[in-house]
Formats: sequence, C-alpha cells, structure tokens
Amino acid sequence: MHLARLRLRDFRNYARLDAGFVPGFHVLLGQNAQGKTNVLEAIYLLSTLRSFRGVGGAQMIRHGAKGYFAGATVVGAGESEIKAYWAVKERKLSVDGRPVRKLTEYLGILRSVVFCTEDLQLVKGAARGRRRFLDLLLAQTEPGYLALLLRYTKALRSRNALLKQPTPDDAQLQSFTVEMVDLGNRLVEARTALLPRIAPVIGQAYAQVSRGRDEFEITYQPAVRGDFAVELAKSRARERVMRTTLVGPHRDELVLRLNGQLAAAYASEGQKRTIAIALKMAQAEHLGAVHGVMPVLLIDDVMGELDAARRAGLIPLLQRAHRTGGQVFMTCTEENWPSELGETLHRWKVDQGVLAPA
Ligand SMILES: Nc1ncnc2c1ncn2[C@@H]1O[C@H](COP(=O)(O)OP(=O)(O)OP(=O)(O)O)[C@@H](O)[C@H]1O
Ligand SMILES: [Mg+2]
Repeated sequence: MHLARLRLRDFRNYARLDAGFVPGFHVLLGQNAQGKTNVLEAIYLLSTLRSFRGVGGAQMIRHGAKGYFAGATVVGAGESEIKAYWAVKERKLSVDGRPVRKLTEYLGILRSVVFCTEDLQLVKGAARGRRRFLDLLLAQTEPGYLALLLRYTKALRSRNALLKQPTPDDAQLQSFTVEMVDLGNRLVEARTALLPRIAPVIGQAYAQVSRGRDEFEITYQPAVRGDFAVELAKSRARERVMRTTLVGPHRDELVLRLNGQLAAAYASEGQKRTIAIALKMAQAEHLGAVHGVMPVLLIDDVMGELDAARRAGLIPLLQRAHRTGGQVFMTCTEENWPSELGETLHRWKVDQGVLAPA
C-alpha cells in the first residue's frame, strides 16, 4: 500500500502542498518548526481521521484560514481518491467522489502506523495506553472487536453510574453485570489470542534494534484470573465502598519486562524507546500479515533519540517494511542515519511550510 499523492490546503503551516510519492523510503529533512511533523500528521489524519498529536480539527486549520483540505491518492488493491475538508461548521469526507457514510468502511483505505516521541508513554505511562495499543490493533484486524469494546465500555459506564447511586437497584445491577461478563470474557479471549501472534515479533524487533543485549519479555495479564462473574461477586463489598467496578478487562495490563525487571522502572530512556519502537513495528507487521499489505510507516523524530548502533539496527526493519511495495516516511533534522540507506532513499526538504525534493 502506498500514498501516491498528497494535497493540502491551509493545513497547519502549509498554505498549499501538492506532492507525488513513489513507494519506498522517504526522508523529510528540515530544521525545527518547518513542517516535517505536520506532513506526517496530515497522512495519519487521512488514514485514521485523527491527529496523532491528540488535537481536534480546529487546531490543524492554518492560522487565519476558515478550514483545511487534505486529499490523497492511495494505491492499494486498487486506487482510491480521498478528500477531506474540515471547517468549524462544515465537514466533508469523500472517497472517489462519494461521501463516506460509515466510518468502518473508510478506515482501512490508507493504513498507517506512526512512530513518535509520545510512544514512550507506552512503556512509561499507565496501563490504559498499553490496553489502547492492544485494542487498536485488534480493532484494525478483528472484525467486530471494536463494536464489542464499545458495548463493554457502555455497560461498564452504566454499571459504574449505578454504583454511584445511594442505593443501587439490585436487578438493574445484575443485568449490567451479566452483560459485562459476557462482553468482557470475549474481550479477554481476543486479547489472549493476539499475544502469541505479536509477542515473538515484538521480541525480534527489540533484539534487532538493541542488538540482542537484553532479555525482553511481554506478557498479557488479565485483571480477571478465574471466573469473571465470581470475581465480580467477590468484589461486591469493596465496590459498595469504592462505588466503581473494580475487576474486568478495563483493568488488564500488558506487562513489559527487561532482564526480568519492569521496563517502566528499570529500563534506560534508550531501552524504553527501543521497546516502544518494537511495539509499533509489531503493530505494522501484524497489520501487514493480516491484510496482506504493509501499512505506511510514519516515523517522527525517532532517529535522533537512538545511538548509532540502534539506528543501524532499526534500518533493516524499516527497509523490510518498504521492500514489499510499502512506504516509509521519516522526519529528521540532520542526516544521522546509517549510510546503507543512502542509495535507496528519496529525500525531501522541508522549509517554512514548503516541501520540495532535495
Ligand atoms: N494551525 C497552524 N497554522 C499555522 N502554523 C501552524 C499551525 N499549527 C502549527 N503551526 C506551525 O507549524 C510549524 C511547523 O510545525 P512542525 O511540528 O511540523 O515542525 P517540525 O518541522 O516537525 O519541527 P521539529 O523538528 O521541531 O519537530 C511550527 O512553527 C508551528 O508553529
Ligand atoms: Mg517535528
């Protein structure tokens, strides 16, 4: 899968961008604050309809403009023309000239995986981020998973709202409990089944970037060890005090260990960064395996945070990703990548909101 053309109008610091991209490895070079990340953000936006910076549409409109336009030609099994226009009062999204009605039909036209500095939170941050990583991957590969997750979350919220009442109605509580148990068990089943498929890929990516110096281990730890219904019943007394649902897959953990220790507490920044890269690499490879085409890789500021040996370890992973007809976009402030990459890459210069071949 590759992005053959990107068009932007009034997007961030781009008044106008119109660029064609061949499959392969693209490097976006430029000084700070020139618009490198903005290009990746636009590609990710067309892929997921979200910014990876976690901001809303209004922030992406170029200062002083009314709305932004982002368009792409995507070459996958066929060719698709995506157009997105976003203004505070008007939103339009079309594929091949037809308005998009169902989000589930849209997602998947342009698949991408982003590697950015915020990924460090996957290792350092709360369990929620790691659950989201699992959920996102399952939502992108298992039909029906997203719907299941949304239904579980709704049942959980209703149950928690009920627990906040002075005297929760027993029959109502029971009905939410039954629903949560049924949906929750299915979530745990899907998460459990995913792990053996991605853990080896994560381990291999980690070993390759770190050059095999550490023992890395990833395990899925469901909050419910035995029977969910029994565990919920057991926690009723504590629930009365805490007024919230204390067990269930919303408390699951993805445990990351390095040399037997918890990575968040033990690993160095570079090791944490390497784990984050390995998680994202596994996401890309799993998507590639399930859908038969590699997603577009968007790599923001990653090289600068790794030492030369780790940079050299990462390159073959990226090259493997684009060799099968895929595409990689990588931003850099300086040419600090290993020279092996030199022959195959396409260079772009980013300067004050202008992207030009370099
Ligand atoms: N809505 C907007 N309208 C106009 N300019 C914007 C808008 N949002 C961000 N910018 C500007 O875009 C510029 C480039 O941002 P970007 O994050 O892409 O830089 P970068 O090249 O990735 O830099 P760095 O190397 O520091 O990461 C910044 O100067 C920022 O102020
Ligand atoms: Mg940037």
